[in-house]
Amino acid sequence: MTQLYCLFVLGILVARAFAADPPSPFGMTWSSKSFGPDGPWQAVQIDVGTPAQTIALYPGGTFRSHLLTPRICSNVTLSPDACFASPAGLYAVESSSTALQSVIKFPAATDYSHGGLQVQGRQGIGAIDQMNIGTSGGLRKTITVPNVTIAAYDDIAAMYPSGSIKALQVGTLGLGYLGTENQSFTLPGQPMINGSLIPGYLQATDLIPSNSFGLHIGSVKSKIKGSLYFGGYDQTRICGNISTQRGPFAGIEPDDDGKKGLIDLLDIGINVIEGSSPFNTSTITNLLASSNSSIGPALSVSLLPEAPYLDLPKSSCDAIAAWLPVTYNMDLGLYTWNTNDPLYAQIVSSPSVLSFVFRKDQINTQNITINVPFMLLNLTLEAPLVTSTVPYFPCNAQSNGKYSLGRSFLQAAFVGANWNSNNNEGVWWLAQAPGPNIGSQSNVKSIADQDASILPSSNDWAASWKGILVPYSGQSASPGPTNTASSPSTPNPSTGLSTGAKAGIGASVVVSAIGTIALCAFLFHRRRKSGNEILYGNTSASRNMQPGMSVVALPVNNYRNGGYGPAELHNHEIKNNHAMENGNNVSDSNMAEPIYELGGDVYKR
Ligand SMILES: *[C@@H]1O[C@H](CO)[C@@H](O)[C@H](O)[C@H]1NC(C)=O
Ligand SMILES: *[C@@H]1O[C@H](CO)[C@@H](O)[C@H](O)[C@H]1NC(C)=O
Ligand SMILES: *[C@@H]1O[C@H](CO)[C@@H](O)[C@H](O)[C@H]1NC(C)=O
Ligand SMILES: *[C@@H]1O[C@H](CO)[C@@H](O)[C@H](O)[C@H]1NC(C)=O
Ligand SMILES: *[C@@H]1O[C@H](CO)[C@@H](O)[C@H](O)[C@H]1NC(C)=O
Ligand SMILES: *[C@@H]1O[C@H](CO)[C@@H](O)[C@H](O)[C@H]1NC(C)=O
Ligand SMILES: *[C@@H]1O[C@H](CO)[C@@H](O)[C@H](O)[C@H]1NC(C)=O
Ligand SMILES: *[C@@H]1O[C@H](CO)[C@@H](O)[C@H](O)[C@H]1NC(C)=O
Repeated sequence: MTQLYCLFVLGILVARAFAADPPSPFGMTWSSKSFGPDGPWQAVQIDVGTPAQTIALYPGGTFRSHLLTPRICSNVTLSPDACFASPAGLYAVESSSTALQSVIKFPAATDYSHGGLQVQGRQGIGAIDQMNIGTSGGLRKTITVPNVTIAAYDDIAAMYPSGSIKALQVGTLGLGYLGTENQSFTLPGQPMINGSLIPGYLQATDLIPSNSFGLHIGSVKSKIKGSLYFGGYDQTRICGNISTQRGPFAGIEPDDDGKKGLIDLLDIGINVIEGSSPFNTSTITNLLASSNSSIGPALSVSLLPEAPYLDLPKSSCDAIAAWLPVTYNMDLGLYTWNTNDPLYAQIVSSPSVLSFVFRKDQINTQNITINVPFMLLNLTLEAPLVTSTVPYFPCNAQSNGKYSLGRSFLQAAFVGANWNSNNNEGVWWLAQAPGPNIGSQSNVKSIADQDASILPSSNDWAASWKGILVPYSGQSASPGPTNTASSPSTPNPSTGLSTGAKAGIGASVVVSAIGTIALCAFLFHRRRKSGNEILYGNTSASRNMQPGMSVVALPVNNYRNGGYGPAELHNHEIKNNHAMENGNNVSDSNMAEPIYELGGDVYKR
């Protein structure tokens, strides 16, 4: 009996050791640092190249990831004393043995903020290199994506309305694109070079179920951890209705026509969710089109996690600002909070929200409201934008006709996309994201290849801010003892605990598995050693083993598609195949990232 049981258990262990993991969503790791100069903002962390260069990046944009190089620090105008870009980490392509730069020297768009900032400087240089994107909670494997397409910037800065030029501090991590696994480049007389887009690669290698992502950037000051999954989403980050849009979440640089990933913004209002209103009325509407008849019934905006502000017409910013104790800063085009005004503390610490009403599901009879508590809009300007830090309200009144909602809005909103849905036409989603009070457990859901819908949690949004936003008592204009600013000791729901708990469970499973094997080995008098060898031969791989986890060495997966043989140049006839996977019918002139040719940095259209 015992021997039969042992055989059975060993059989299961061996089968599990060799079984491939089913694809599951991959959660990115977030940097423990936060970044300015207009945040604080959170960013995801990756290791690029060999040896690894650890870099924090804002998730955002399509196709290439955009990285800043150490050369950006040698410009004394931009980096007078300290280099503002170094805290996030810089990428020196020349120091990486896995980088391939020389063969794809071609320009990338200068403005990787897609108009969210006025970026100027020199174009990026194309390269490909491997990215270690971290260890997946579900798979417990460290994933290295080979040959990710990168644009590296030596000299780039944001220009502000006063004409002053300010250093950029953080690059971006590309979120993928419609039906695309590779961004490919042809060179005369050389084999086509394939660079990976991260979610496309992860799906093609069966590590995640779909070419998709789910993102909530969260908030540093309100202690809402960032959440980015490829192939799925954390359902706890969605409260209430979800609006679904067809098409790509964002456009393609450098030819982004600004017409991709748009959603109609119908109105902006101010509301007070609970308690007395610090304002002289409880509901304020019609702020978007206020005193600007040219806006009409809606303003189309894109959502830009790669950019900081609420980029709205000046008329709209001014209409909102008229209700707030703020002062317009002409040099920056932004508004600073008048912290001595009693209204300031009342507004930013109470459940007072800026409400954004969008057209829902691209239907003219439905709308969806995303509430952004003013607490999240009490952000901080730091050097080099100002000489000493100052709280500011992030409406950008100098957005020059490019209207978008950046990280300040996305602190309170979930966005996600499935690039392959609707036969590579794509869908993307927008929903209300919760505050800090959502419990410590994430609830990660997979997105399947053709899924066009995702599901919300049953979390209540107002409850997610309970205890953090303190209802205004309305008794006096100056804050009394009952309405001092929010308690800083609010418990922070962190996924760290759950990770620890899972690790503990994983470890105990390994221990009991090893115990079973030891017992069986004893009973069988060493007649059957194969099971032991598989486990003990890979102690480092099995240390974190969970049921169902493979102990096969990782590089097999990482480089499953590696080792390409020599390929002949097919020149331009093949480009449709490769710029867009699956032969999506995109015309040459409208193609995803044109194929560039070497020589003189010119590229052919
Ligand atoms: C420094 O950067 C600014 C802004 O990009 C640029 O105009 C200037 O030419 C750079 N200076 C040097 C010495 O490279
Ligand atoms: C990366 O791309 C280069 C150039 O195309 C190729 O030689 C190499 O095999 C690729 N590496 C992997 C791991 O795919
Ligand atoms: C790029 O991918 C295509 C298949 O899509 C393949 O024919 C070609 O050999 C690959 N290039 C390299 C350098 O691996
Ligand atoms: C993407 O590039 C890899 C590496 O060259 C290649 O193996 C794979 O076939 C390509 N996929 C497509 C769809 O072209
Ligand atoms: C009014 O809105 C339009 C966009 O519809 C914009 O171009 C214009 O700058 C706005 N006017 C003001 C004063 O902000
Ligand atoms: C309410 O406050 C706004 C902005 O401070 C002001 O413009 C308006 O006149 C006030 N309304 C009343 C009825 O006091
Ligand atoms: C949003 O929808 C509600 C209910 O249908 C409606 O009352 C409201 O006017 C709409 N808001 C806008 C800005 O269209
Ligand atoms: C607003 O931000 C400032 C820092 O810029 C901070 O000192 C203050 O506590 C914040 N207020 C609230 C209510 O969060």
